[in-house]
Amino acid sequence: MSATPILVTGATGKLGRLIVERLVALGQPVRVFTRRPETARALFGETVQIATGDFGDRAALDAAVRGVERLLLLSPISARLVMDQTAVADAAAAGNVARIVKISGSDWTIEPAGNSISGAAHAAVERHLQSLPVETVSLRPNAWMQVSLANTIMHAVTSGQVATANLDAGIGYIDARDIADIAVHQLLADRVRGRTLSLTGPDVVSLRQVASLLTTALKRPIAALEKPPQTVPKDGDFEHRAVAQFSRLIAAGRAATTTDIVPTLLGRPPRTVEAFILEQVATAAAVPEYQP
Ligand SMILES: NC(=O)c1ccc[n+]([C@@H]2O[C@H](COP(=O)([O-])OP(=O)(O)OC[C@H]3O[C@@H](n4cnc5c(N)ncnc54)[C@H](OP(=O)(O)O)[C@@H]3O)[C@@H](O)[C@H]2O)c1
Repeated sequence: MSATPILVTGATGKLGRLIVERLVALGQPVRVFTRRPETARALFGETVQIATGDFGDRAALDAAVRGVERLLLLSPISARLVMDQTAVADAAAAGNVARIVKISGSDWTIEPAGNSISGAAHAAVERHLQSLPVETVSLRPNAWMQVSLANTIMHAVTSGQVATANLDAGIGYIDARDIADIAVHQLLADRVRGRTLSLTGPDVVSLRQVASLLTTALKRPIAALEKPPQTVPKDGDFEHRAVAQFSRLIAAGRAATTTDIVPTLLGRPPRTVEAFILEQVATAAAVPEYQP
């Protein structure tokens, strides 16, 4: 436990808010960096300090890192990722922040190099972090259940089908709550457990298996349909090109990996896709527009 606030960037986003909630629940002082102070206040009430600013504003970053020893570094996939995260890291190093825990890209987007513009951006930030006089760890989570899988489930509930280009490609999906638990562990631990940690769920699961799990959970048939593969748009924006590259790498089986980092560090198994599907189906059952 640190008496000084932990600074969290990306705190109002999907993963960041889970990390903030956990730190606050542990009684840890937290400062969040955001362009939207009113959103942060609505999410976290008076439980956090708010540092308002944009990653492009060095003076705001210098003010945000004042008195901070540990930092959670997260920003969205975009053409600005390297610039933004490097700016935060440089401000942190100049402000004598002792430790940076970075949310990086999935391991299979980073290595081998040359397959993913998003992975290349995260790799560049990882290299920069390693050049700084700061203790750093980069968490490389596999695909999050709460992102692509949650959409697939909600679509299947209404349409009765799972339609994808990668029906038999396995993915070591991880629950974002497990990523948040590991991030908190590495923020609060006496020392970090390595320079990069590849995080996955317990199993490799294909979308054909997801359709079968949904059939059981919903007690009605969910069809599994193969779609043509997505082409990588040459002129699309950074995020669209990155996502199209993810699909191709997943189709090639690159995301079909599991590691034992979550059980090793947390002393419990990671959450499963099956449990996530049951939760999502229960949530959908309570929402009228998701009734078939
Ligand atoms: N989804 C996956 O399967 C997956 C897998 C591996 C890695 N990742 C990585 O996870 C990260 C995305 O996490 P997420 O989905 O939780 O993000 P998100 O929901 O898109 O949230 C983005 C956050 O970044 C903040 N932000 C954006 N631009 C900013 C700026 N210019 N200045 C200050 N703050 C800014 C936003 O804060 P305000 O709007 O409040 O300012 C918001 O809190 C990416 O780096 C991605 O590569 C995702």
